[in-house]
Amino acid sequence: MATPLGERSGRKKSSESQNQSAAQQVESAVAPYREQISEALRRQLPQHRPSLDSADARTSALLDVFYGQMEYHFGWRDASLAPAIADPGKLLRPALVLLSAQLFARLQGEDRGAEETARAMPAAIAIEMVHNFSLIHDDIEDGDEVRRHRATLWRVWGQAQAINTGDGLFTLARTAVLDLVDRGVTPETVLRLAALLDRTCLRLCEGQHLDMSFEGKRDVTPEMYLAMIERKTAALMECATEMGARIGGADEDQAHLMGEFGRALGIGFQLRDDLLGIWATDELLGKHAAGDLRRKKMSLPVIYAMREATRADRQTLDDLYAQDGALDDEHVERALGILDRVQARQHVRGILVARCRAAREALARARASAPGARSAHGGLAAMVDFVEADVL
Ligand code: IPE
Ligand code: IPE
Ligand code: MG
Ligand code: MG
Repeated sequence: MATPLGERSGRKKSSESQNQSAAQQVESAVAPYREQISEALRRQLPQHRPSLDSADARTSALLDVFYGQMEYHFGWRDASLAPAIADPGKLLRPALVLLSAQLFARLQGEDRGAEETARAMPAAIAIEMVHNFSLIHDDIEDGDEVRRHRATLWRVWGQAQAINTGDGLFTLARTAVLDLVDRGVTPETVLRLAALLDRTCLRLCEGQHLDMSFEGKRDVTPEMYLAMIERKTAALMECATEMGARIGGADEDQAHLMGEFGRALGIGFQLRDDLLGIWATDELLGKHAAGDLRRKKMSLPVIYAMREATRADRQTLDDLYAQDGALDDEHVERALGILDRVQARQHVRGILVARCRAAREALARARASAPGARSAHGGLAAMVDFVEADVL
């Protein structure tokens, strides 16, 4: 199981081994749930194929492609829709739901843990489906051709089909939450959680809107940027931890603190993704390196450099970002040089580390009054370590 945070502090480690150990910790936190989450996701799709029963053979075959596209996105089928085993993603968000539920489970022990996992599973897969619907649409919005080392859904089937399949997945997520009633969650709580998920999706779309609106703008401030990632990424993580906590039996204060934990973690997570989007290699990313610079994204390192760089460097960056089309290799190199000169990477990491500290504080306060499942707490703390580890 994950090593408690305190045991690691005070020891100096190279950033590579720190990164490996954080990745291993998060893997051990997610691993116990991985199979169950995948199975529950798989079960959710065929359940909703009533239209296939009544359709003629050719119509059925076409509708099968609709669900097949979802399965392709999850890595269960290849582009010809033959069964496959590919990267389904890290499954961090559903693990956050399950761990947050475990944290508040009244009784401890293995059986109780399994029961709590089963109870919270519909919420876990709802969150993962929302995440994946947003990725399918996000890849269209960003024009990204590769995700998780494979062609994006729109790249294989076209944008129109990908929009529709994303919408289908979004709808499946909403229906999954209602299944909580069958797991003994009270109808009042389920209604509340369903409303929370819908509000979260709206915030996510607000965030995506802001993100797209920032492209081509040169007057985006760090505050505007943080308001954007708070919506596009942190809102769903906040929803995951709050939902889990409520299903586990948390009181209002605890649920609120767990939401704070998820939100801080989510902001840190997006900052990490933005650092990766500029400085990580293709291999590490599963998509093209420096993609965010090539595409002239207004992520925080760039916003910071536009404010802090020398007048000459600011002008160069401004000119590069004002060009039509994507940046070529030489331009990416020049932009990277400017970011390096203002230490944009270190600045963004500073904010990331502060959000991780806030996440740990919220978790500690929530846990102080929770019955205290040690392993769930260790798993949630491992998520923070993972976000904070210096991967570059
Ligand atoms: C990617 O999220 C999108 C962001 C919010 C940065 P993840 O990195 O969790 O994606 P998967 O599911 O593991 O591929
Ligand atoms: C991901 O935003 C957030 C959502 C999908 C809502 P990004 O566009 O920054 O994430 P990646 O880098 O494509 O995964
Ligand atoms: Mg994207
Ligand atoms: Mg995007």
